[in-house]
Amino acid sequence: MFTDLIDVLFKPFEYKSLKLHNRLAMAPMTRYFSPGGHPTTDVAEYYLRRARGGVGLIVTEALSPDREVARNHDDIPWFHGERREAWEKIVDGVHESGAAIAPQIWHPGGARDFTFPDAKLSDDLESPSGFYGPEVLGGREMTEEDIADASASFVRSAVDAKARGFDALEFHGGHGYLFDQFFWDATNKRGDRYGGASIGERARFATETIRATREAVGEDFVLLFRISQWKTKMYDARIVHSPAELEQWVQPLADAGVDIFDCSQRRYWEPEFDGSDLNLAGWTKKLTGCPTMTVGSIGLATDVMTDIETNELSAPTPATIQGVAERLERGEFDLVAVGRAMIADPDWAIKVRERRFRDLTAYSVELTKTLV
Ligand code: FNR
Repeated sequence: MFTDLIDVLFKPFEYKSLKLHNRLAMAPMTRYFSPGGHPTTDVAEYYLRRARGGVGLIVTEALSPDREVARNHDDIPWFHGERREAWEKIVDGVHESGAAIAPQIWHPGGARDFTFPDAKLSDDLESPSGFYGPEVLGGREMTEEDIADASASFVRSAVDAKARGFDALEFHGGHGYLFDQFFWDATNKRGDRYGGASIGERARFATETIRATREAVGEDFVLLFRISQWKTKMYDARIVHSPAELEQWVQPLADAGVDIFDCSQRRYWEPEFDGSDLNLAGWTKKLTGCPTMTVGSIGLATDVMTDIETNELSAPTPATIQGVAERLERGEFDLVAVGRAMIADPDWAIKVRERRFRDLTAYSVELTKTLV
């Protein structure tokens, strides 16, 4: 018999100081509507519409910390100086609508902007070993001083996030950006203590940064950390190949102070390793015992990146929503992040709660050109 499990998505979630009225998060998504790093009132309204539209947690688009080389495009918001006040207003507005909000803090490392590759030259960026991918040059090799400074800028962002009233903070550790460039052996060829043959050794930059952040923000402030195997434009890339290796990757991050892992996949239903249906979020939860968040093609017929190549409408798919609810019910993960479907439809969460699947708006990359 068909059982409708949609209500599972709308159960409250609580962890340390983070309280969510449901399990749905808006996934972090760069929007290029913040000239000179300033989020405009249009950006504020865009987030408020999602809060009013019933989502439990908003993870903001990637924000740059206060390090000049930690941004690759000037229309991507920064998270320091006077720009913090604009974020404070967004936080207050989101809270008034009953949702929670976490900034995603991001450093591109040696990756140029993929949509606007000429926005910044590779020489103005930095990376662990001067590479963005296998034999793909990107950024200048970081000194130990650069590493310490980059780490300190992440910590300052976290302290700021807590002071500005954010409910939690996410570090972007996936998709081929700075943390990921340290994790991946194709981009981390360092001979010092930040490199090494094992993923445990290459995780040192992340564990040191997380540990310092945890000390600075205290025990109760929730830290999310996004991981992925895939990289932008390199979908088959893999950092780990077995559950044992995954454990060597994520357990040190959990020990250093990560509370919740945001496990990025392009299709949430794809098993991470042979012999089990568990996806990356399922495995990470099983191995660490930490709460996890899944993401990837929830509510849409086409996955992220394929939609850019085809430029076609991606239709709403209730079956993928039902499927993720079933896995949530089984306890494979704790939170469910929705990306493009929430760009298309600010009221996505309310419509799903009310089973108004036919009212959901289809997604196309055209929609990224405005703030709906
Ligand atoms: C993204 N994604 C992304 N991820 C991230 O960690 N930080 C970011 O700033 C962005 N930026 C971004 C912009 C746009 C326009 C898209 C479509 C995607 C990836 C995003 O968070 C999510 O993981 C994927 O889109 C997959 O989820 P959906 O869209 O299939 O629900």
